[in-house]
Amino acid sequence: MEAKTILITGGLGFIGGHFVHQYRQKHPEIKMLVVDKNTYAADRNRIAPFEGQDNFVFVEADISDAKKMKALFQQHEPTLVINFAAESHVDNSISGPAPFLTTNVTGTFNLLEAARGLWLEKPHQLRKEFNEARFYQISTDEVFGSLDEEGHFSENSNYAPNSPYSASKASADHWVRSYFHTYGLPTLISQCSNNYGPHQHQEKLIPTVIRTALSGREIPIYGDGKNKRDWLYVEDHCNAIMRVLEKANPGDSFTIGGGAERDNLTICKVILEVLDGIKPKEDGLSYQEQITFVEDRPGHDFRYAIDATKIKESLGWEPQHTIDQALQKTVVYYLEKDSKEKEA
Ligand SMILES: NC(=O)c1ccc[n+]([C@@H]2O[C@H](COP(=O)([O-])OP(=O)(O)OC[C@H]3O[C@@H](n4cnc5c(N)ncnc54)[C@H](O)[C@@H]3O)[C@@H](O)[C@H]2O)c1
Repeated sequence: MEAKTILITGGLGFIGGHFVHQYRQKHPEIKMLVVDKNTYAADRNRIAPFEGQDNFVFVEADISDAKKMKALFQQHEPTLVINFAAESHVDNSISGPAPFLTTNVTGTFNLLEAARGLWLEKPHQLRKEFNEARFYQISTDEVFGSLDEEGHFSENSNYAPNSPYSASKASADHWVRSYFHTYGLPTLISQCSNNYGPHQHQEKLIPTVIRTALSGREIPIYGDGKNKRDWLYVEDHCNAIMRVLEKANPGDSFTIGGGAERDNLTICKVILEVLDGIKPKEDGLSYQEQITFVEDRPGHDFRYAIDATKIKESLGWEPQHTIDQALQKTVVYYLEKDSKEKEA
């Protein structure tokens, strides 16, 4: 077998794209195979710096295509698999849930099957070339449902998904878990809180706030804006994923969060204060005047918060960015992107 190969699905997306860059920087010697369907959420430019390199391969493919996944595993023999690929927007899962079942559940199942076929001699016996293999499922804290004002999600929380998106991610987690227990497939799972940072698709909260603010339109905030999320800078999440991949034992799972709980209205106001400072409006008003409360998302979870003690204590991970610094960086990125788009 050739040198080690890592397969990254969803590498043209927000978090997968950051992971591709961070992993490539740390392990330029490891062959990387990126598989992505190139959906509306993808950005092919994310991998432009690596295309054409000897040990970098991009394949445009759908993880819900079982035959294709099996063929790719047989051809490239990945020893590490990280599944970022997903339909990821809750609102889309409410208006049209079917692709969430196909990609998030069937797609994950196909990858598990392809890994089982390649890596295992028989249940609980890996072929010797795949002794160190890992199948890592990237999941979300949304699988645990909603919290009241008190408490945190941890690895011991019960699954209680409330949206078609979180139901599909929860289902995938259960499939992954079952492949560890039944077949001894060396799996890992982490459930992370809300990520933010550059290169996020414009449909998500933070890019939406910045884009609508700059366009002079109303800035839409669901309900009363009191829904709370635990925000984590995307690079910190990717560092956590690397830690888990490199140090965790098969079968393990981790909840990952930044310990930066903010409600949606507060996040929005912080962003707008940064914008007021860097790019004041010509009329002298604050961007905050544009905030408009809109009808709440059906079944909107009230609060997510993470207890990240396990990953901190057992793997020595800590987020390196404070929310204030990282949000500032994020706003600057979207501001520059907006100016470039206007110039083009
Ligand atoms: N963004 C967050 O705040 C967050 C938080 C926790 C967990 N997650 C999880 O992290 C992962 C990545 O999230 P993201 O925000 O980068 O999502 P994203 O929507 O930005 O990217 C998803 C990527 O998957 C690809 N994809 C979609 N369907 C596919 C298919 N059938 N076959 C192959 N590729 C397909 C898309 O083209 C896209 O490039 C997801 O699994 C998501 O559930 C996200």
